[in-house]
Amino acid sequence: MTTIGLIGSGNIGGALAHLTVTAGHDVVLSNSRGPETLADLAAELGPRARAGTPQEAAEAGDLVVVTIPLKAYRSVPVEPLRGKVVIDTNNYYPQRDGHIAELDDESTTTAELLQAHLPDSKVVKAFNNIYAGFLGLLARPAGDPERSVLAIAGDDAGAKAMVARFLDEIGYDAYDVGPLAEGWRFQRDEPAYAALYSADPAGSWPPQHARRVDEAFLVEQLGRAKRYRDM
Ligand SMILES: NC(=O)c1ccc[n+]([C@@H]2O[C@H](COP(=O)([O-])OP(=O)(O)OC[C@H]3O[C@@H](n4cnc5c(N)ncnc54)[C@H](OP(=O)(O)O)[C@@H]3O)[C@@H](O)[C@H]2O)c1
Repeated sequence: MTTIGLIGSGNIGGALAHLTVTAGHDVVLSNSRGPETLADLAAELGPRARAGTPQEAAEAGDLVVVTIPLKAYRSVPVEPLRGKVVIDTNNYYPQRDGHIAELDDESTTTAELLQAHLPDSKVVKAFNNIYAGFLGLLARPAGDPERSVLAIAGDDAGAKAMVARFLDEIGYDAYDVGPLAEGWRFQRDEPAYAALYSADPAGSWPPQHARRVDEAFLVEQLGRAKRYRDM
């Protein structure tokens, strides 16, 4: 059994918390407002869940997920995450996050920013390109022909293997896109971004109907990726 620390317990954090307890792991939830504001979610999740501060979630997690608005990434506690594997779900929306020059000029990527903030952690990009409402809907046990694949990227092979095992336990196959620098291939507005898992007509948001994504389709969409400067 593993403990998953969640820094951020909103749409994505909440969906991951449900999948995690269903898989038999413990979760420590956290947010910016304090553990008391997560009492209802913790109660709904049952005895495997408790709420804490981001510091406590980082300390308790064998694997920690950062799933907050990108603009807040510098508040993620550094010390308790040393040596740990950290999943980054974050996306860059300038209208929400403010402009970040090194993302605007594409000299880095969102997950590389978190990796730079957490130099002694092993960051793996995952879950950023699937609509939160679909995470539970598309999860399937290993071997199910309707199982979907999720893209991951990271600089450490062992960390990616750990994240792939976690994905497997919660209902997904993993496809390794490469190092963090390749994470732009499934960032906002790319063909392998959120619409990938939607069966709705192009442009409709939020999506209503989920569709299974297999590795061949994911690879095809990743291959269509363009840098923002070339769009
Ligand atoms: N929604 C989606 O379908 C989706 C899909 C893939 C990826 N993403 C990305 O994943 C990230 C989270 O998205 P979301 O939709 O889950 O957001 P959300 O529903 O707004 O939840 C954000 C969570 O982060 C917490 N938070 C904010 N600032 C924090 C801080 N400084 N320290 C700790 N916790 C903090 C919030 O807590 P408080 O409420 O207490 O502030 C809340 O629990 C974003 O970067 C988003 O772009 C979203």
